[in-house]
Amino acid sequence: MAPRKKKPDDLRSHRWYGPNDVRSVSHRARSRQLGFSGEDFAGKPKIGILNTWSEMNTCHSHFKQRVEEIKRGVWEAGGFPIELPAMSLGEIMVKPTTMLYRNLLAMEAEELIRSHPIDGVVLMGGCDKTTPALLMAAFSMDLPTIYVPAGPMLRGFWAGETLGSGTDVLRYWADRRAGLIDDETMENIVGGLSRSAGTCMVMGTAATMMSIAETLGFTLPGASSIPAVDSNHALMAAASGRRIVDMVWEDLKPSDILSEASFDNATIVDMALGGSTNAMIHLIAVAGRAGIKLDLDRFDAISRKTPVIADIKPSGKYLMEDFYYAGGLRGLMSRLKDHLDVTCMTITGGTLEDGINGAEIYLDEVIRPLDNPLYHEGGTAILRGNLAPDGCVIKQTAADPKFHKHRGPAVVFAGYQDLHDRIDDPDLNVSEDSVLVLQYAGPIGAPGMPEWGMLPIPKKLLEKGVRDMVRISDCRMSGTAYGTCILHVAPEAQAGGPLALVRDGDMIDLNIPERRLHLDISEEELAARRQDWKPRPFPYQRGYTALYAQHVTQADKGCDFDFLHAGAPTPEPPIF
Ligand code: FES
Repeated sequence: MAPRKKKPDDLRSHRWYGPNDVRSVSHRARSRQLGFSGEDFAGKPKIGILNTWSEMNTCHSHFKQRVEEIKRGVWEAGGFPIELPAMSLGEIMVKPTTMLYRNLLAMEAEELIRSHPIDGVVLMGGCDKTTPALLMAAFSMDLPTIYVPAGPMLRGFWAGETLGSGTDVLRYWADRRAGLIDDETMENIVGGLSRSAGTCMVMGTAATMMSIAETLGFTLPGASSIPAVDSNHALMAAASGRRIVDMVWEDLKPSDILSEASFDNATIVDMALGGSTNAMIHLIAVAGRAGIKLDLDRFDAISRKTPVIADIKPSGKYLMEDFYYAGGLRGLMSRLKDHLDVTCMTITGGTLEDGINGAEIYLDEVIRPLDNPLYHEGGTAILRGNLAPDGCVIKQTAADPKFHKHRGPAVVFAGYQDLHDRIDDPDLNVSEDSVLVLQYAGPIGAPGMPEWGMLPIPKKLLEKGVRDMVRISDCRMSGTAYGTCILHVAPEAQAGGPLALVRDGDMIDLNIPERRLHLDISEEELAARRQDWKPRPFPYQRGYTALYAQHVTQADKGCDFDFLHAGAPTPEPPIF
């Protein structure tokens, strides 16, 4: 432990418990109501544990047990644990999309921390949006913070085959729609997909964001790769509980740890992992809360010089359990050491280099050597052009290489309902060379920017064996998904972006090596169409969704709320 910078009377929680006044008496009395006397809590760091457990978050089903292990660690180190339930945001069950609620969890978590007598914070997250939301909150509050990642679930398994969440569901569902497998086989596959607690075990958004949290320095070294049900995960939880107490005494806050270099490191690791396209949006939002500006061009510059070395689905072959056995994130970062700024600080009080010292790689086929990468540059590329003036994203490693340069006629769908109603119409004028375009699915248009970006292949093409096409939308795609899907087009259609002006038959040029996406119509024609265009009526006039639509930023700005993204810190609450 580093030298103590704080005395008990300096603790933030002292304002609640310490003064000789009626409020303090009341706070102490209510702690006794829970069975804790002054001996239990007086002068001890109060550690808020933000637990995103619920019965609708299937990825966090082990959090009831893990929170007890974190509490044990806090007690062992001389702290006082306070569990605070927070919105759980289970990716699969929450509709229309958890992305609509990422900012709500970020706001809830920030206010939970602010309004309670807390000196340090343990964040329990993992399922997709929970990690960025909790980090956004913690970076805004800037109290000592440690992140306990849920960890991935075990490999899926069916009929001798290893299955990856999301990725293989989508693959087999395409086979089901093409009539290649029957309902009974599909049900057997379902039975083998989700075998334990933990997050999706491909390099989807959850695994990407947990790895990013570790790279930013907010977990114990190696924490993000441990499978959820491995006993080492329980040990990590208890150790995190012990460490946060020391961090409070050391007064080690996010602002002492984060820098532009730590976000560059996170982007480099994201690229080397072949991480989820969603990471772009989340990293921009998280960096914004730390007062650090990240933009899409920075991602692309890093992508061009960072090879993908993690051979993990959906870009590669293996799963997160294999990644752990291969050496995990510590192994990967040690291999990338010359690309990273290893002098960046972490919650250990040491550097990133301290955390990866001694790391080994046991399976070169999973974490590949730099001179034999899975892909010669990063997993994600940023495209621009008259169809996406503020940029868009493609996971090039998950796209069929034959589409990396492509020109084809647009087949346009005005919203998801239109897509749903017509995609399998036998009369739809579509071929393998067509470019499927989905409008009005962005942050405001959907609303919430759902993961609809892997537009389904029309059934009549599936039956001919087609499994990939060029698809363009202003929404996102699950990190577990694959295909030539151009996502996050900004500005979105509902905000008046050129995507709203595309019509059936317009020719679209895609050139990934040149980072170009072009709608091949004249400026005059585009201007004429714009004159005729109106946004679609927005059906949400009240409640959170109305607030969201008024304040959400576009994808290239991170989709945070404009009023949360920057500005002076919110004052501490008065305690009267
Ligand atoms: Fe929770 Fe995929 S559904 S991580």
